[in-house]
Amino acid sequence: MIDKEQMDALYIEAQKIAMSAYAPYSNFRVGAALLCEDGTVVKGVNVENRSYGMTVCAERNAVAAAITMGKRRFLALAISTPDSAEPVGPCGACRQVISEFTAPDMPIRFAGSGKKQVNTTIGELLPLDSLHDLNKN
Ligand code: THU
Repeated sequence: MIDKEQMDALYIEAQKIAMSAYAPYSNFRVGAALLCEDGTVVKGVNVENRSYGMTVCAERNAVAAAITMGKRRFLALAISTPDSAEPVGPCGACRQVISEFTAPDMPIRFAGSGKKQVNTTIGELLPLDSLHDLNKN
């Protein structure tokens, strides 16, 4: 398990990388920082498209980057949405993709520009995940 200091540091990485988001259509930037089992932090941002449906969320881009780098086991995820005051959690599609590579108790923190932070787990965000036992990782 990671401690509060590690999660704080991971969240700062998410805040920093959110500035790289490509979000000219929604003006809603998202940064995701994934802590891998070997200590590497892999980041992702949302990448929008003028054909709106082609948009890919920050969380899925972070997972895809990590898998590309050969990392398959994740210890924690932090998500920053600086364009909302309130925390905005991962969308349903991202919850499913995150859960492919994590234990249900993997911690997730998300926060907007305000003071409120949500500290939860992928199991709480994707409950009754009955396909979890099919995981191959
Ligand atoms: N977005 C993410 O990157 N992650 C989420 O979990 C929620 C939504 C992006 C998609 C789109 O570029 C923008 O935020 C507004 O929905």
